[in-house]
Amino acid sequence: MPDDSVAGVKSSLAEVGYLADEPAALVSYLAQKLGKPILVEGPAGVGKTELAKALSRSTGRPLVRLQCYEGLDEAKAMYEWNYRKQLLRIQAGNEGDWDDVQEDIFGTEFLLTRPLMQAISSPEPVVLLIDEIDKTDQEFEAMLLELLSDFQITIPELGQISATTMPIVVLTSNDSRELTEALKRRCLYLWLDYPGIEREMEIVLLHAPEINRELARRLVEVIEMVRALDLKKPPSIAESIDWARTLVLMGVDDIDRETFANSMSIIVKHRTDIDLVAERVGLKLPERSA
Ligand SMILES: Nc1ncnc2c1ncn2[C@@H]1O[C@H](COP(=O)(O)OP(=O)(O)O)[C@@H](O)[C@H]1O
Ligand SMILES: [Mg+2]
Repeated sequence: MPDDSVAGVKSSLAEVGYLADEPAALVSYLAQKLGKPILVEGPAGVGKTELAKALSRSTGRPLVRLQCYEGLDEAKAMYEWNYRKQLLRIQAGNEGDWDDVQEDIFGTEFLLTRPLMQAISSPEPVVLLIDEIDKTDQEFEAMLLELLSDFQITIPELGQISATTMPIVVLTSNDSRELTEALKRRCLYLWLDYPGIEREMEIVLLHAPEINRELARRLVEVIEMVRALDLKKPPSIAESIDWARTLVLMGVDDIDRETFANSMSIIVKHRTDIDLVAERVGLKLPERSA
């Protein structure tokens, strides 16, 4: 089996358009071998969410995604009872035995399943993406622990529901708050950062194949210069790709001062950042390309 090694996982991710570095390939391999969730942390736009999507494509498993947000609760993440349906059942069973009705309405057909429950109860193995977990609170993290260590969920009225198939679980965090030790302990940890010049160039060439190699290298070098400044929002890989596509559409083959000034809003998106970048990077570029 090609996937049965770190190199195999790396190449099957590359086949579906994700260029993983060694640590990312290793963790993806271990997650499948050890059956442990992956916690991916790092700045915005470095490929955290995309890693989960790529794992779904490369393994052929459906992706079940839970997008986290402030105030997300169990009812929206796991399951809730379908009150309307329960009520109808109670009304229909008015003349019947109340014990029977009660037993009935807390059966699985009265559950509304949300992403976590869907992943657990899916008859085919899935990739479960719990995206931007740092947007929720510690209470929510605590609720996840049972799922992450035992792949099971406890419903008071029904008991434990265990996963029928083992999901590959990927949690992502933009590092906006410290996650709990309890959560980290249960996961394989991966810190994703901006890639080096070579890998970012390959990523850009993969997503914008019309750009020539030399221009792609130049672009990535300029991006690195911009990232080295103390910006509010440094350009991510997504912005490198957008910029590459923009340069192709502009029909330029070098990044001179004018090209940079005309297109820098693709990579820098804060008023204060724009001034700084124009001065510190723009002015260093050649006045006009030959
Ligand atoms: N290693 C990679 N290989 C290929 N494309 C990548 C890679 N990392 C990032 N990308 C590209 O960058 C974009 C942004 O990545 P994303 O996963 O949304 O970032 P994050 O979730 O870390 O904020 C993706 O849509 C993808 O096109
Ligand atoms: Mg993301």
